[in-house]
Amino acid sequence: MAEFLTKYKRTHYCGNLDISLTGQEVILMGWAHRRRDHGGVIFVDLRDREGIVQVVFNPDAGENVHGEAHKIRNEFVLAVRGNVRKRPEGMENPALKTGEIEVIISELEIMNESKTPPFSFDDEEISENVRLKYRYLDLRRPAIQKNLFLRSRLAAATRRYFEENGFIEVETPFLGKSTPEGARDYLVPSRISKGMFYALPQSPQIFKQLLMVSGFDRYFQIVKCFRDEDLRADRQPEFTQIDVEMSFITEEDIMNMMEGLMKAIFKACLDKELTLPLPRLTYHEAICRYGKDNPDVRFGMEIVDLTDIVKDSGFKLFAEVAASSGVIKAIKAEQASTLSRKDLDVLKDFVAIYGAKGLAWAKVNAADWTSPIFKFLKLEEVALIAKAMSAKEGDIIFFVADTPKVVSDSLGNLRLNLGKKLNLIDPEALAFTWITEFPLMEYSETEKRFVSTHHPFTSPFLEDLPLMTTDPGKVRARAYDLVLNGSEIGGGSIRIHHKEVQSQVFSALKLSDEEARLKFGYLLDALEYGAPPHGGLAFGLDRLTMIMTKAESIRDVIAFPKTQKAACLMSDAPSKVSIEQLMELSLKIVQ
Ligand code: AMO
Ligand code: AMP
Repeated sequence: MAEFLTKYKRTHYCGNLDISLTGQEVILMGWAHRRRDHGGVIFVDLRDREGIVQVVFNPDAGENVHGEAHKIRNEFVLAVRGNVRKRPEGMENPALKTGEIEVIISELEIMNESKTPPFSFDDEEISENVRLKYRYLDLRRPAIQKNLFLRSRLAAATRRYFEENGFIEVETPFLGKSTPEGARDYLVPSRISKGMFYALPQSPQIFKQLLMVSGFDRYFQIVKCFRDEDLRADRQPEFTQIDVEMSFITEEDIMNMMEGLMKAIFKACLDKELTLPLPRLTYHEAICRYGKDNPDVRFGMEIVDLTDIVKDSGFKLFAEVAASSGVIKAIKAEQASTLSRKDLDVLKDFVAIYGAKGLAWAKVNAADWTSPIFKFLKLEEVALIAKAMSAKEGDIIFFVADTPKVVSDSLGNLRLNLGKKLNLIDPEALAFTWITEFPLMEYSETEKRFVSTHHPFTSPFLEDLPLMTTDPGKVRARAYDLVLNGSEIGGGSIRIHHKEVQSQVFSALKLSDEEARLKFGYLLDALEYGAPPHGGLAFGLDRLTMIMTKAESIRDVIAFPKTQKAACLMSDAPSKVSIEQLMELSLKIVQ
């Protein structure tokens, strides 16, 4: 078999044929996507990575060709020789890129057969578990192939951009020591040093800082990172970062360089022109206006603080919450008469997920409100709220009264929920925002101490240093995230390069010198040998690809992804290992 390959070379990809090739002989190779037998004439949709073309087997092509064509079934691998012709009048298929033409076949080789695939490639509703089990077949589907092609263009554009800007790509180890990102590590037992473990990197953070100490000045890497955390639609246990670090820079330099990267990527992958500079919000503004540090700014519906207006409210609950240093805030859904009473009940349950004890609402009428709290409110209060909210007849106002955190969480998420429900989001919009001035540390109720918002090497604003001992929660970090359409696509910071500042941060985090040395001693040592001022950032390449391809799940932009349970349904990883392997590692499984 496989004579075809010794006789001929493929001339074209199926999906690239067009009317300009009419009359020309072509050699094609690909998979039988579909076969139709029209009483003598056999039509096959032949598919390769570039698309589909209709090939035609006429009875007069002889038994060798036509007889053989009878045996073709879905997903058989074919090689054909034939002539391109314009389809007869009325037979064109505008749904197909190659729909104006077809190929009349004069020679056929069935290069391989296929079992009947477990799902139809045209079916949109295939169970994801089946798709993941037969991922090699799922990856034949044009929708997924398209995502991986874009991902590859994104990586190529990234490398081009960094090459042009004098960056060096350096690989860093996978078998290493625990890194500071704060998720759970994936551990790898050492055979040679019994009882010892490597940790797979959560990011190359420490190594890229060391490369700055070494004087490389501009580093980047497209690199796998590993985090054993709870998975969501935009998280995978192994994911890819575009990781960057630069020396002798300020945050402005890094943000400018990264904006240039975004511009290059969107031009190369989607032919879209981004307007620079990208907008910015401080963390504080983002939380006040959108309730989140990854705000989706594709639509308005900003949060309004009503605490001052309702602190003496006739509605006791509002007055009490205000008196106990809580806040009362609201959002407004414009012209939302489509929301039924039942919808409002469902929304009340929705905000309960974020800790809200209730959700008061008000339908604004011409002269009054339809609202469970209207009867409690004074008329001048109603007027002040309506003015603060710029409320018009037909709008619905939603109020939450609680601690600042619960109010931000519940209204921030309610805003997103309503934005989707009321179709306020333009699916074509690209809304970037930098978020700056994050708090350096946040108090952790579980750990009963302050923990780093980013990681412990993030530099504080030097003018905030005096607060480090008095009010650590108020110290601002020289950190920045880039948010696109409500998704955190990247984040980074200026790093601490002085030993004294680093010690101050460790002590605010209640990390003793010994602990710090044990964890990151090699970085602390390096910082004492002339570390330059430096900083950087890492983008989530998978998340960026998701947004660019409009994929619903991160799994649709990764060739071989893991499930929510961090398993690979195709290879059955993770799996048991032999007792010999365990003994070699001196490990014993405790039931
Ligand atoms: P950070 O932890 O913010 O920063 O990670 C950078 C970006 O990586 C993406 N990301 C993920 N994507 C998919 N699945 C995950 N589990 C996952 N976790 C993170 C996000 C995020 O913005 N070393 C620092 C960067 C620095 O300071 O330079 C770091 O890793 O898009
Ligand atoms: P009640 O008098 O308890 O029926 O409450 C009147 C309205 O206020 C109801 O619509 C409740 O959902 C709402 N409500 C209760 N607690 C809160 C809260 N913490 N914040 C906002 N609204 C609330």
